Amino acid sequence: MKIFVDTANLQDIEEALKRGFASGITTNPSILSKEERRDFGTHIRDIIALLDRYEANIPLSVELFTTDPDEMIVQAKQFIADFGDYKNLAIKVPIGWDELRVIHAIRRMGAKVNCTCCMSYNQAIMAALAGANFVSLFWGRIRDTGSDAASVVRQVKQTFHEQGNSAEIIVGSIRQMIDVNEALQAGADIVTVPPKFFPLMCVHPKTDEAVQQFISDFRAWTTPEPSVEALLATSNGNGAVLLASDGGLSAPRA
Ligand code: E4P
Repeated sequence: MKIFVDTANLQDIEEALKRGFASGITTNPSILSKEERRDFGTHIRDIIALLDRYEANIPLSVELFTTDPDEMIVQAKQFIADFGDYKNLAIKVPIGWDELRVIHAIRRMGAKVNCTCCMSYNQAIMAALAGANFVSLFWGRIRDTGSDAASVVRQVKQTFHEQGNSAEIIVGSIRQMIDVNEALQAGADIVTVPPKFFPLMCVHPKTDEAVQQFISDFRAWTTPEPSVEALLATSNGNGAVLLASDGGLSAPRA
């Protein structure tokens, strides 16, 4: 069970790294386009620098941004030249007939592949057989078509297990918190989650209630009972104090 962070935002990545729960980062061209406009390579290098600073040698997925298979291979070589010093780089390749050739070529170059945009059982199987290290199934988008994303994940997981295929299933396209829970329960090895969900995944109103109660009980227990002198000092000018119903002393009300 692993959680990846589905973002290219440096601050969000850092917040996750500080908390130690992140086992990987996934980006895609759309996710990158949400960041301030800047050079693509510089941004990826900044993510790598951040991962290095936190000594987090976790998979970083970077997606090819062309649809022509030959260009994809050229671009993959460039990714390896530019970012390949980061040993856990995974090049994201969308699933497709021609794209299997790209996956195979990248694996032969010695780099990792995250085969992305998989919506079906057969796509996931083909990606894994072509050598993808990660197979990304898009939970929200599968459900958009009226299909049961949990069944797809469960069936892919079962087949990988039975056939001894080592590809890891990433579930992406998370739209609500419950998707994370259901994806993990369906057998996802990894769920990649937009950062906005992480704080929400840690809260519960009954947790707040319990914590508040523990603190106030403890404060009451550790706060010394007021002495008679202290009560007199806070009493009215005549030094009058009232006898409480339990027999204790209390200062008169103003
Ligand atoms: C996963 O790797 C993708 O980046 C992401 O989850 C895509 O999902 P969406 O475009 O449906 O949000």
